[in-house]
Amino acid sequence: MRKFVFDCDTGTDDAIAILAAFGTPDIEILGITSVNGNVTENHVSANNLDLCEYLGFDVPVTRGASMPLFSGYHNSLDMTHGTTGLGSVVLPHAQTKQFDPRIASRFLFDMAVKCEGELELFVTGPMTNIALAVIQYPEFSDLIKHIYFMGGAVWGGNVTTTAEFNIWADPEAAHIVFDSGIPMTMVGLDVTLKAIMEKEDVVKLRACHTKAADFAADLLDFMFDRYSRGGEDVIMHDALAVASALCPECMKYTDYFVDVETTGTYTRGHTAADFRGRLGKEPNMACAMELDVPMFRKWLVERISACGKSENH
Ligand code: RIB
Ligand code: CA
Repeated sequence: MRKFVFDCDTGTDDAIAILAAFGTPDIEILGITSVNGNVTENHVSANNLDLCEYLGFDVPVTRGASMPLFSGYHNSLDMTHGTTGLGSVVLPHAQTKQFDPRIASRFLFDMAVKCEGELELFVTGPMTNIALAVIQYPEFSDLIKHIYFMGGAVWGGNVTTTAEFNIWADPEAAHIVFDSGIPMTMVGLDVTLKAIMEKEDVVKLRACHTKAADFAADLLDFMFDRYSRGGEDVIMHDALAVASALCPECMKYTDYFVDVETTGTYTRGHTAADFRGRLGKEPNMACAMELDVPMFRKWLVERISACGKSENH
């Protein structure tokens, strides 16, 4: 059985991605680690704890890095995720579930040791926790089987014309992880900007009459309203990173050497993919470059519809 830890900056689309993972049979989610990103870490951690208690995900939830490695706070520059991170959706505050006492990087290392080289990671926020694990525990990188991450772009950006938020928010951390030797799959804006849900998907989820599906439908309704007011579209950035591991056939991939610009005045956070092979460096990741949108949407609705009905944890 494949084993994953989910590192995230929950976040509306992170929350939907978590549901898809927990709705997938025959995998085990060992825990959720929280990182500063869309909103401050205290909100991210609370969101993760609240949604796990609300939906009965009996897995450890840890707190994590409250700011990037070297620069100051970087939270979403707009109200894409609202002040709490879940938009207009309000979850009951966790009454009994407590945070795991370990900080994210320690938890990640402990799970890596426990899985003896079989641990895979979903990373859907800034890579601060992962970089700290690489720095603090020299053997960590050799113990991680694969990282599936939402971040970067071979072409374009969403915070600047050349940088995507997760990488832009902590480019030094991303550089450390990209340079770690851990096998990786990059799910960047090249495909995520096409991963847009439709109103019919909300109708299908509402028809499930489950807490998980209704929670996802509420998040999607917030995103549709946000879009109607000029905000981001109903884009499933993070769920697509989960799909790259659990429904890889939704996408097509090209192996590239990718590094991160950390010093550019106008390009800090840019993921530089050597798509012409001019650097003479071996590729360090598979980059998702094409997406079958209907196949992805069908997969996501099916997985969320199954969430809470299968034993994943
Ligand atoms: O650029 C999109 C990414 O930034 C997503 O992970 C979203 O949740 C935000 O963290
Ligand atoms: Ca995210």
